Amino acid sequence: MRAYRPDPVPDAVIREVFDLARLAQSGTNSQPWHVAVVSGAACDDLRNRLCERFDAGHPGGRDFERPSEPLPDAVMERRRACGYSYYATMGVERSDREGRARIARKNYELFGAPHAAFFSMPLVLGLSSGVDMGILLQTVTLLMVERGIGSIAQGALAQYPDTVREVASIPEQNGIVFGLSFGYEDPDALINTVRMPREPLEAVTSFVS
Ligand SMILES: Cc1cc2nc3c(=O)[nH]c(=O)nc-3n(C[C@H](O)[C@H](O)[C@H](O)COP(=O)(O)O)c2cc1C
Repeated sequence: MRAYRPDPVPDAVIREVFDLARLAQSGTNSQPWHVAVVSGAACDDLRNRLCERFDAGHPGGRDFERPSEPLPDAVMERRRACGYSYYATMGVERSDREGRARIARKNYELFGAPHAAFFSMPLVLGLSSGVDMGILLQTVTLLMVERGIGSIAQGALAQYPDTVREVASIPEQNGIVFGLSFGYEDPDALINTVRMPREPLEAVTSFVS
């Protein structure tokens, strides 16, 4: 979901989601995760700070480096197709740099959501703990679906970690892996009509017997 109603999710429901999600599996039960949830005035404050950074053209910098390019062709193609179908729904041409920036900015507007959560893990940890973080993310988002709460995972929210640290409580030795904006869906928003395709079973799975 990339557009939200302003009404907050009750505290008790948010706590229940994260309380259940912490029961998720992780390699060697290491539970490398920490989640910092930001709501209310703090969330608005963070939204403003992030947008200020984005508008100033600040390049930011991630706690965990992104893979260096070139990426495999199939991955690049799907990434591009994801961006373009999103722009097309919003009536933005590929050549319209300003329009694309306007859409990218929505990440830092937290898509208008009343809450954001920042998923972090110790900086010294690597890929296998990143997998655990993904498992936690999926667990959280499914628990939210079950309660009628929409969400959007955002790698973009790892781009300005220092700004996030000004507002959210991130453990000192941790790096931010991704963020998650969440709240109740705005059912009238065009942006929420985007549907992303998936590869067929045969393309992503093989069976030998
Ligand atoms: C770890 C992760 C990071 C993501 N980062 C972003 C992001 O920064 N901005 C965004 O708009 N969507 C982001 N997404 C959403 C994906 O683009 C989306 O899940 C994908 O296109 C499939 O679409 P669907 O979830 O609507 O089926 C992210 C998803 C995941 C799992």
